Amino acid sequence: MMNANMLDHLIRDIKEKGWSFRENILTPHDMSLITSFFEHHRGEFVPAQVGKGLARQRREDVRGDHTFWIDPLNPPEEFRKILDMLGEIRTSLNREIFLGAQEYECHLAYYPEGSFYKKHIDRFENDSSRVLSFVFYLHPEWKDGDGGELVLYAEKEIAVRPFPGSLIVFLSDGLPHEVKAGTFERRSFTGWMHSKIIY
Ligand code: OGA
Ligand code: MN
Repeated sequence: MMNANMLDHLIRDIKEKGWSFRENILTPHDMSLITSFFEHHRGEFVPAQVGKGLARQRREDVRGDHTFWIDPLNPPEEFRKILDMLGEIRTSLNREIFLGAQEYECHLAYYPEGSFYKKHIDRFENDSSRVLSFVFYLHPEWKDGDGGELVLYAEKEIAVRPFPGSLIVFLSDGLPHEVKAGTFERRSFTGWMHSKIIY
């Protein structure tokens, strides 16, 4: 369950500016469960690609992360709390702003030290079904100077500091953003809500 106050803030932010950043969403216990899962599956992560369908390709000059996809319909136990929270966010946003979110796709990701994801938007040109993007940050530590910020190109430029256990959500439609290179292994659980059935 998400704290009702946090959920209210999140919904208000989305209504007002299209994004919301909340710290301390995950407890150290939640983080350690997921970290064990992460370490256990480290060898199964694959270099992420860009584009869709036949145009998919690895472009390290565009993004350098490695990902491990999670099936949200049959999730490992460690992800239950995150997926429950996303369910609450989805219900509220569907009610409050008619987001129309139905299903999710999600993956764990790590960015090796020095890697980045250049400025992009999360919607594909030929598929507009992504409606909400979400990222939970899972690395054990982060401090100013470590890099790895998520820069949102909203009305003004906002550098989101990826504190462990924090969550950023934003409307996938037309908010360009970029992941800066960092001096640490940057870890996240990232995904998108879709306005259509995808599984
Ligand atoms: C993405 C992305 C942001 C982040 O995976 O599309 O923009 O902060 N991630 O990891
Ligand atoms: Mn993105």
